[in-house]
Parts: sequence; C-alpha cells; structure tokens
Amino acid sequence: MAKLTEKTEITLGPKVPCSYKENCTGCQYLDFTYSEQVQIKKDHLNKLFISKNLSPLEPIEFVSAGEAFLRDRLDFSLQDSRLGLYDKDRKNILDLEVCAQLSPALQEWLTEFRKIRWPFAKGSIRLRVGPEGQKGVWLDFANVDIKALLEEQNILKELQKVAFVEIGQRRKVPFWTGTEFKLRDPQLNVWFQTWLGERAVDLYCQIASFTQPSLKANKLICATIADWVQSFPRSRVLEFGSGIGNLTLPTLCYAENVVACEIDELSLQGLQKSLDNLPGDLQPLKNKITIHRGDFQKKLTQDFSSFDGILANPPRSGLMNFLTPLEDLSAEQRPQFFIYMSCFPESMVEDFARLSACGYTIQKTLIVDQFPQTAHYEVLSLLQRK
Ligand SMILES: C[S@@+](CC[C@H](N)C(=O)[O-])C[C@H]1O[C@@H](n2cnc3c(N)ncnc32)[C@H](O)[C@@H]1O
Repeated sequence: MAKLTEKTEITLGPKVPCSYKENCTGCQYLDFTYSEQVQIKKDHLNKLFISKNLSPLEPIEFVSAGEAFLRDRLDFSLQDSRLGLYDKDRKNILDLEVCAQLSPALQEWLTEFRKIRWPFAKGSIRLRVGPEGQKGVWLDFANVDIKALLEEQNILKELQKVAFVEIGQRRKVPFWTGTEFKLRDPQLNVWFQTWLGERAVDLYCQIASFTQPSLKANKLICATIADWVQSFPRSRVLEFGSGIGNLTLPTLCYAENVVACEIDELSLQGLQKSLDNLPGDLQPLKNKITIHRGDFQKKLTQDFSSFDGILANPPRSGLMNFLTPLEDLSAEQRPQFFIYMSCFPESMVEDFARLSACGYTIQKTLIVDQFPQTAHYEVLSLLQRK
C-alpha cells in the first residue's frame, strides 16, 4: 500500500517571516499562522462545494510537505536590473534577493544567478533545480535580446559553466562552435521525478516544461494517486493531461493499462524518453501505456465505456468538452471511478457538478498544500459512480 510520507505536523507555529511582505504580490497569507491557513483553505473549498450543491461523503483532508521553502522552480521577471515578482501597484518588479517559497537548493541557485548583470531592460527567467541538485535556467527574452546575448558571449559562457541553459519560446539550447554561439534543438534532461512507492523514477523534460512546483510535495501527490488507483485493481484508465507522465507512472503500477491523452508534443517526447529509460525491472510498464497526442477538448472520439476509471489533471480552465462523451453514455456504461487533481478548484467544482449529474459522488477529497503562504492549493478528489 502506498503511504503518505514526510507529512508535516500542522501546528500553531510562528508566521513565516518575509521582509518583502508589504510590497510583494507572491504570498497572500503571510499574516496568518499555518494552522489558520489550513482552515482558510478547507473553508474555501467547502464553500465552493456548497455553491454547486455538492456533498462530499467524507470531510476534506489536508496534507502538507512544509510551511515554506518548497519550490524547486521559480518564474521571475527582469525589469531594468531588478529580478523578482510584481509589487503591489502591479507596475514594477520588486527585486527579490531571498524568497521563503524556494527550496534551499533553489535559493542558493538564485543567489548565484543574481550576480549576473543583464544588459536588457526586460525578460522572463525560470530557474530550476533537478532531483540531483542540477541547476537550470530558461531565458525568455525578445528575439533582439537573444541575438545580443549570443553575440555578447561572456554571460552565456559563464552561465554554462554552472547550469544548463534554454533560450526563448522554442526552448533552444545554445552551444559554442569555437567561434560563436549557435542554437540547437530542445534537449530532454532529468528535471523532475515521480514516485512508485518509496522509489523515485526520473522524468525527462525541459526546464520550460510544466512540472509540479515542488519535488517534495509531489511525493505526497504520487502516493495518493497510487493509493486510489490501487483500490481499483487492474483497471483500464483514461488519463487527461498526462504531461511528462508524473501521475501516469504511479498509475501504471496498479492499472491494467493507461491511455494517456496530452496536447503538448514536447511533454510527450519527455514521457517517451522517461519510459525508454526506465530501470530494467520497470520496463514491463511500457507495455501497459498507449499515448495519444491531440487537443482532447476538441477530439471527442474517445469511448469512455471501455474504461474503468478516468484520471484528470486539467489546466486551470478545467475539463470542459472532454466530459461531453461521458455525458452521452448511459449510467451503467460510465467508468466506475474518476480521480481529479486540480490547482484551480473553481473550475474543478464546475466539472464536479457535471459529474454529479452523471451519477458520481465525491468519496475523498485531499488538499495537498503545494503553495503554502499563498491562497492557492492543490486538490485531489476520488469520485465514484453510484
Ligand atoms: C496541470 S498539467 C498536468 C500535467 C501532469 N499531470 C503533471 O502532474 O505534471 C495539465 C496538462 O494538461 C495538458 N492539456 C491542456 N489542455 C489540453 C487539451 N485540450 N488536451 C490534452 N491535454 C491538455 C497540458 O499540456 C498539461 O500537460
């Protein structure tokens, strides 16, 4: 049985100190103790359930991987020589030397990265640390600035001594030819990991790829997904929004097979590389997965009646048209269970109202607090057909 590990006991601890509190837009709940934040988040979700006449069978559970210092990737903006997040007037970037959201390894990388003097007025910067502490940066600048960066040479040479670098919307990788910098196609590296019980499994992707924000909190998510899938042994599962396979692999362990549906080509290349690089004893998992690439808001051909369960982790907009084929089936043709994970509970409850009309009841609800000190939270729910 998969176990939730490394949970933090929720105590009436002191508030997390932050010297940017009065000006930064990043964290909204710094004035609350962590136990107050837990209650606020549970109340918020309960109110959303009530607003849609939803009656979960069990009370909302809450797990935390920590009250701060969780993030292993950050997205900061550069404005003149300031690097950070928007201040409260939403006009200027607040220069953030330290941030209580960052894991110790990411804070260390930020401190090192901040020594660079950027010759550009603005841009977007993602910093990442991988499971082995690898450092990465995605520089998303205007084309004219990318050209200037390649020509300037020194910044890139110094950066590449300490980190892997990706550039621009197309996530190209700079390389030195001996006389100049050129850009080559995106590369897949191990920037994230998923969990099969206590065993970490490498996930290949780009620095710019979607991943959950925290390696530590992700372990709690994977344990829950595995636990719930395991309670429906050998089921045939249809997954919406597999991305790089973070939930797919824990699901594959217990499911008969998984059909993974995903729109993003680069994420699927990552998933394929992760499957190809599975350790020998896990190779049989590859035989249980089928990957479908497409826009599954538009591609309404999937026959839900051939699945025992659905696993959905949609973007903020929710499932929308993906649910239409399910509504078109008769009650007994519909899959027995529905596992839904969302960081945007407002669209999730819209989808739950539709699932409720299809005969599903909310059995379990778990908040995994990936975003402590902020108003955001991740929800995992298990629904079952009556
Ligand atoms: C919240 S992410 C979840 C990714 C993955 N489950 C994870 O834990 O890393 C949502 C995923 O849904 C995908 N997605 C968004 N719209 C989609 C669509 N219309 N059809 C298929 N996939 C879509 C995104 O590309 C993204 O990978």
